[in-house]
Amino acid sequence: MSNLNIVVVGATGAVGVEFLDLLARRHFSFGSLRLLASAKSIGRKMKCGNRDFTVEALDENSFRGAHIAFFSAGGSISKKYAPIAAKCGCVVIDNSSAFRMDPNVPLVIPEINPEAALEHRGIIANPNCSTIIALVPLWPLHRHNRIRRIIAATYQAASGGGAAAMQELLDATKAYLEGGDHKPQVLPHPYAFNLFSHNAAVDPVSLYNEEELKMVRETKKIFNDPDIRISATCVRVPVLRAHCEALNVEFTSPISPSEVRNWLTDQPGVRLVDDPHRNYFPMPREASGQNDVLVGRIRQDISDPSNRSIAMFVSGDQLLKGAALNGIQIAELLVKNGLGAAAA
Ligand code: A2P
Repeated sequence: MSNLNIVVVGATGAVGVEFLDLLARRHFSFGSLRLLASAKSIGRKMKCGNRDFTVEALDENSFRGAHIAFFSAGGSISKKYAPIAAKCGCVVIDNSSAFRMDPNVPLVIPEINPEAALEHRGIIANPNCSTIIALVPLWPLHRHNRIRRIIAATYQAASGGGAAAMQELLDATKAYLEGGDHKPQVLPHPYAFNLFSHNAAVDPVSLYNEEELKMVRETKKIFNDPDIRISATCVRVPVLRAHCEALNVEFTSPISPSEVRNWLTDQPGVRLVDDPHRNYFPMPREASGQNDVLVGRIRQDISDPSNRSIAMFVSGDQLLKGAALNGIQIAELLVKNGLGAAAA
């Protein structure tokens, strides 16, 4: 066992629970583990593997002696407490959007830009879930044939809205099937047997919503390519925990579906699920609980006569690769390479 002191902020949330599960399943070695949440959860018992832990309240002193803190309690908590944790010499791996576009904060997907994590100044940002799920399979292609433009349509699960949104989907579906009424409380519209434009705020000038703009900005930062052009339409669908995305991708040079399949075969974090004969392609039920992003429906985009465009469909677990798993992989990278500047 190592002597690393680990803190999970938001341990009782949808992503927090996955952090605990992954720490145990991946045999992440630690000396101590503190679970933090809001006042209403103080004293709650939770398990990490077969060890029991008690949830404590988050406060300014929570990070004394800590080496790594996983934050997943929303942007305002991260904004307030991540700098406090970093000042204590603790490396923060933040799942919120609070610091993602800060030029002093690396935005890291370990399969793509692991080197960026090692240049942290105390805070490392985990990208947006839809961004991660699209970019893991697009990166190997980008290295072979530079991507010029991406058009994405997302089908996003309830889990992106946290545990309360997942519960709302279950409650609303049950009420609908029983002929009853369910008033939306967490998401803005009825969720059962429905779908709607992502609940993030809409920018009044561009008319893109914040989720869509995150995909645009974060892709440029992670790929370190300010010229890549992206348009996204993000939609919330009645699925519990895995996102899907239809991606139309324009490359610099002509490209074929068989090249794409070859370049994606055996890539870390990617699994091909692409069987046109059986009409069998990535599905959120099959992506749920999986580490890999499932990729299929790989075909020439026939709207581009220059043969430089590919259409594909991907699905990835929002709580795992879209959040907690990516965070744990960043922590594993740090442990392997030394915790870096902030950690004393
Ligand atoms: P709690 O369960 O006590 O409310 P989710 O993303 O699933 O909505 O989870 C959000 C997480 O953030 C939960 O663990 C929640 O704890 C935690 N959280 C929310 N508000 C605070 C707060 N003010 N201080 C600490 N943790 C908070």
